[in-house]
Amino acid sequence: MTFIPFPKLQTNRLSLRRLEERDAKVILFLRSNEIVNQFVKRPKTNSTEEAIAFINKINKGIEEEDWIFWGISTNQNTELIGTICLWNFSEDKKIAEVGYDLHPKFHQKGIMNEALECILDYGFNTLSLESIEAYTHKNNEGSKKLLIKNKFEHIAHRKDNDNPDNVIFSVSKDHMTS
Ligand SMILES: CC(C)(COP(=O)(O)OP(=O)(O)OC[C@H]1O[C@@H](n2cnc3c(N)ncnc32)[C@H](O)[C@@H]1OP(=O)(O)O)[C@@H](O)C(=O)NCCC(=O)NCCS
Repeated sequence: MTFIPFPKLQTNRLSLRRLEERDAKVILFLRSNEIVNQFVKRPKTNSTEEAIAFINKINKGIEEEDWIFWGISTNQNTELIGTICLWNFSEDKKIAEVGYDLHPKFHQKGIMNEALECILDYGFNTLSLESIEAYTHKNNEGSKKLLIKNKFEHIAHRKDNDNPDNVIFSVSKDHMTS
């Protein structure tokens, strides 16, 4: 598994690309806006400097194969509108967790569905993952609907010890292709 060169991906409407320092303003927005973070438990980003530090940490982690993290732009405009990542790889690199967020201006237009389809294909067919998991808040209807639409199943017997409000979803490569 290597992410060098960076695996830039393209869909009908979207470009999935490496984050750059010029994305700091949108990263700050995504990691501090109330709507985006309503169901997401993570440390808030409080300044442009913190956003730049976050981008640098993300890009270093990609080089070290800790995770792969894409900025989402439309094919018409290079401005960042959201992010999607595969992280928390199991030791044998067969399981990863997916994470995503999107600027509210672009919600409910099928954008994350398009990005997720692309990342699932990359995860299963390029990284040869066996399954991909998602931890999401039990009341995050948009996220749950997105996952179910992409053949993820709720794993009711598994709990997130760090956040009891989360539910765990998983999709396996076999299930995707069946
Ligand atoms: C969750 C999120 C990524 C969904 O992105 P999106 O681009 O709006 O989703 P899509 O438009 O691709 O929609 C996928 C499905 O979910 C449905 N959906 C999306 N948002 C919804 C909402 N708020 N309520 C109900 N259904 C919703 C869509 O209607 C669609 O289903 P359909 O095709 O049957 O109509 C977006 O709401 C977001 O960024 N939220 C904030 C960050 C977040 O919660 N991240 C998840 C952390 S686990």
